Parts: sequence; structure tokens; C-alpha cells
Amino acid sequence: MPASKRAPAAGRRSRTENSRAIDALVAAARSAREHAVAGYSHFKVGAALETIDGTIVTGCNVENATYGLTICAERVAMFKALSEGHREFRRIVIVADTVRPTPPCGACRQILWEFAGDIDIVLANLTQRTGVYRLGALLPVPFDGRLLGG
Ligand code: THU
Repeated sequence: MPASKRAPAAGRRSRTENSRAIDALVAAARSAREHAVAGYSHFKVGAALETIDGTIVTGCNVENATYGLTICAERVAMFKALSEGHREFRRIVIVADTVRPTPPCGACRQILWEFAGDIDIVLANLTQRTGVYRLGALLPVPFDGRLLGG
């Protein structure tokens, strides 16, 4: 991973460093959004997931003729990251061309909870940030592996 594709070093960060890291993620999510395969809905979404070591992994939505097999930008980013060996995450940025915040769908909330836990979800459009939420606030009573033990 070239240094240019990494957020500033992990660990304790100042407010400025955090803000710069988020700016880098927003830029990455906007670029990823350009690759969206969204010929059915024409609703392009980009996502940028930050791993605990500062690596940025991006995704875009990918639609197809079944509609139902569409996969959202957030899950593409998460599955890419997992497939590349990443297991710990700090936050995800989601970008759509909407004035109001575009939050992750229910399926994405579930997958993000499973693999990233209670991370920050930063929402942005093409010109500005539109909101920030903890995933736990968006999915307050989650189903997860802790329940499977009986
Ligand atoms: N979509 C995402 O990629 N992420 C979201 O957070 C919301 C919805 C995609 C799925 C579909 O390709 C299009 O946006 C319209 O729902």
C-alpha cells in the first residue's frame, strides 16, 4: 500500500490529524463513487473504510439485472478489506450525491456491526460532510454472534 493511499498514522491522533484522516477518506469515497455500477438506479455511492493501521479500502455500489443481487458500496469495501486480511477498523465514510445524509441500509449496518463493531459512520456528499453517527446508534439492538451461544 503506497503511503499516498494511507490515512495518517494510527494510534493517538490530534483533532487536526483526525480531521485530515477523515478528509482523506471523504476524497477516497468520492473517487470510488465514480466507479459505481449503478445503471438501474443511477444512484451512485462510494465508501472508504479506514483500518486500524490507517489503510483506506474503498468500495462502490454494484448493480445488476436481478436488482436483488445488488451490493452496496459499504459491503464492497468491507468484503474487499476482509479479503485483503484486514480485521480491525476505525471508521467508514459514505458518499452520495444527496443534500440530506445517506445512511447505510439495514443489511450494511448488520455487516459493519459484525466485522467492525461500534465504529464511526461519517456521511458526506460531493461538497461537504453531512453527518456522523456511531454504528451502535444506527443499530441499537443488534443480532450478533454473542447470541448464538444460547
Ligand atoms: N446503496 C449503497 O450502495 N449504499 C447505501 O448506503 C444506500 C444504497 C446503493 C444500492 C443501490 O445500488 C443504490 O444505492 C440505490 O439503492
